[in-house]
Amino acid sequence: MIIASNFKMNHTRRSTKAFLKKLKEVKTNHTIRVFPPATSLFEFDIVGAQNGYPAVNGSFTGEIGLEQIQEFNIDKILIGHSERRNILGEKQEFIAKKFEFYKNENFEITYCIGEPLEIRQKGIDEVIKYLKNELVGIDMNYDKLIIAYEPVWAIGTGVSATIKEIEETHNKLREFIQAPLLYGGSVKLDNISEICEIENVDGVLIGTASWQVENFVRMINQVKG
Ligand code: 13P
Repeated sequence: MIIASNFKMNHTRRSTKAFLKKLKEVKTNHTIRVFPPATSLFEFDIVGAQNGYPAVNGSFTGEIGLEQIQEFNIDKILIGHSERRNILGEKQEFIAKKFEFYKNENFEITYCIGEPLEIRQKGIDEVIKYLKNELVGIDMNYDKLIIAYEPVWAIGTGVSATIKEIEETHNKLREFIQAPLLYGGSVKLDNISEICEIENVDGVLIGTASWQVENFVRMINQVKG
């Protein structure tokens, strides 16, 4: 299983260092990933960047590019998160540009997709149609691709999608996606085992419940395998 923590805009450099130190002591067969903010990047093989501009460097105020990410020998990145799509206004064309750039740099790309509530309410066919639109321009055969399905309505709400909803969506996604499929959206200690046991769920991308290292470690230990 892949168990990933997205810090979003949480943790400082100091607290990230302490978090990673604790995590280093954990023995697990699972693949662990941690995505801290840009100011808290460290050279550690489980660490990835939450974002990256599709350029080595340049006049892109407020952004970080390949040069800044590679200073920490980081070769993993999160692209397409719904918070960047919806709050920061990233469009599919730009997201696909980022994907292409970091793919060409041989990064492991955790690529996020997820529908808003009004689409979920229209049923599974509309959901899949929406998700496919978020995959336009993305090379689905890239061998370092990981897809994270994160329904927007389940993110940060404390209410995860139901087991049935996750199962149905992942089964449909599996029909055209060979890459590992993570689920994200209110994953926590009391639902992680059940979610990870669903067929076609290859791991989880966790926000809120992962920010306390003790809780993240407990979650890792909870997952079988
Ligand atoms: P929560 O676990 O806080 O719902 O966040 C999920 C997420 O967006 C991970 O990328």
